[in-house]
Amino acid sequence: MEKRSQWGTRAGFIFAAVGSAIGLGNIWRFPAVAYENGGGAFFIPYLFALLTAGIPILIMEFTMGQKYRGSAPLTFKRISKKTEWIGWWGVAVAFIISTYYSVIIAWSISYSVFSLKLSWGSDTEGFLFNDYLKLVDVPGHVGSLVPGVLIPLIIVWIIVLGILFKGVKKGIEMANRIFIPALVIIFIIIVIRAVTLPGAFVGLDAFFAPDMEAILKPGVWIAAYGQIFFSLSIAFAIMITYSSYLPKKSDITNNAFIVGFGNSGFELLAGIGVFAVLGFMSVQSGVSVDEVVAGGVGLAFVVFPAIINEFPALNGLFGFLFFLSLVLAGLTSLMSITETYVAGLVDKFKISRGKAVFYGGGLAALISFLYATQGGMYFLDTVDYFINQFGVAMLGLVEVVLIAWFLRKLGDFKSHANGISDIRLGSWWTISLSIITPIVMGYMMIGLFSENLLRKFPTDTGNYENYSDTFITFGGWAVAAAALLIGVLMSFSKWRTTDEEEDVEPKEEE
Ligand code: ALA
Repeated sequence: MEKRSQWGTRAGFIFAAVGSAIGLGNIWRFPAVAYENGGGAFFIPYLFALLTAGIPILIMEFTMGQKYRGSAPLTFKRISKKTEWIGWWGVAVAFIISTYYSVIIAWSISYSVFSLKLSWGSDTEGFLFNDYLKLVDVPGHVGSLVPGVLIPLIIVWIIVLGILFKGVKKGIEMANRIFIPALVIIFIIIVIRAVTLPGAFVGLDAFFAPDMEAILKPGVWIAAYGQIFFSLSIAFAIMITYSSYLPKKSDITNNAFIVGFGNSGFELLAGIGVFAVLGFMSVQSGVSVDEVVAGGVGLAFVVFPAIINEFPALNGLFGFLFFLSLVLAGLTSLMSITETYVAGLVDKFKISRGKAVFYGGGLAALISFLYATQGGMYFLDTVDYFINQFGVAMLGLVEVVLIAWFLRKLGDFKSHANGISDIRLGSWWTISLSIITPIVMGYMMIGLFSENLLRKFPTDTGNYENYSDTFITFGGWAVAAAALLIGVLMSFSKWRTTDEEEDVEPKEEE
C-alpha cells in the first residue's frame, strides 16, 4: 500500500490551511456581506459564529482528518460505515464549487492585465457585461464560449492541477509558502494606500457604523454563518483532507486557532481596505457610500475598476496589485478545494495521484467551461448561492448533529485533540458543537428553506433581471440536490482495496 503523503513541517501545514481559508471569500465576499448585513453590527453574529461554530468545527475537522488519516469519504467511513456518504457529499460540494471558483480567478487574471492600461475605460459596468463577458440577455441561455474568459481559465487549471500533480509537500506546501507571504505583503501595501486616500474615513465610518436593528434579523445570522463556513473552508471536505496529511503527533487545537484568527484578521483587513477606497470614491464623486457599494461581482469587477480610474497616481499598478491579490488568494484556495476529490479518488479507487488529478481535475475543468460561455455569469451566481446555503451550511449542520448526537464522538475527539495539542479543549467546545450550533443552525435552516421555497431568491447584485423559476429550479435547487445525490451514489460504489486494514481506524502508535 502506498504511504500517505505528509506535510513537511508544521508551518507548511499552517500555510496551506491559511491559504485555503483566505480566498475570494475574504476579499470579494466579506466586505459586501458585512456591509449589507448591518455594518459594524454584523461583527456580533460574525464573532458569535466564529467562536461557537467556525473554530469548534475547524478543530473537529482537524481532529477527524488527523486521527483517521483519510480523505473525507475515507475518514467518515472509518468513523462509521454508514456515514461515508457525508464525506462524498462534501467532496461533491467542493467539486461543484471548484468549477465556478476557477472562473472568478480567470476573470481576475484578465483584469490584472486590463489594469495595466485601464482598458475598461470609463463605463466599467458596460465593459464587464458587454465587452468582457459578452453576457446574453436571458438567464439560462448559454450562447457561445468567450475566448477572453476561456484562455485564462485554462491557465488557472494548468497551474492548479500542475501543483497538485507535484504532491502534498513538493506541490501544495511549496506553492503556499510562496503565494501566502506574497499575498500578505501585496495586501498590506494596498491597505496602507487605501487608508491614506482622501475620504478613506468616510468609508470606514460606513463600514463600522452599526445598524443595531439588523442583528435582530435572522437573515443577518444566516449570512454570518454562511460567511464563516465558506471562509474557513469548513463543511466541504477541505480541512479533513488537509489534516489527514498531518504527522501523528502534530498539534491540532493551537493550529486551528492560528488558522481561524489568521483568516478573520485578513478578512477584517480586506474590509478596511475595501471600505477605505469606497469612501475615497464617494468623496470624489459626491455620492454616499451606499450608492458606491455593490455586492459580489459588482464590487470587484465594476466598482473597483471605476475607483482605480480615479486614483491620484500609479493607477495601473494598484489595479494590477489588487487583481493579483485576488488571483493568489483564489489559487491557494482552489488547490485545497480540488485536493478534496483528488484525495477521495486516490483513496477509493486506489489510483495514482497523477490519474486522480487528470480525471478529477480534468472533469472539473471541462464543466467549468460552461461558466466561460456568454450565459456563464447567471449560472455562476445561482449555483454559488444555492451550493453555499444548501451545500456548505446544510452539510455543516448535518455533520455536527451526526457526530455529536448520533455517533457521540465528541468525547473521543476531545481526548484525541487534548492528547497532542498545547491548548486543552474544555466544555466551551462540547457545548458549542452539541448544543449551540445545532440549535442556531437548525433554526436558521428552517427559515432558509421556507424563504427559498416561497421563492424570495435574493438578486442582490442588482446588475441583472430577476431569474425565472425554471432557471432557479435547474440552476440552483437541482445542482444542490445533485451534490447530495452524487454523495450517496458514490458511497455505494465498491472500495478498491485488498487491504482489510482500510476499514479500521489507524493505530495511534507506530
Ligand atoms: N475559504 C475559501 C474562500 O474564502 C474558499 O474563498
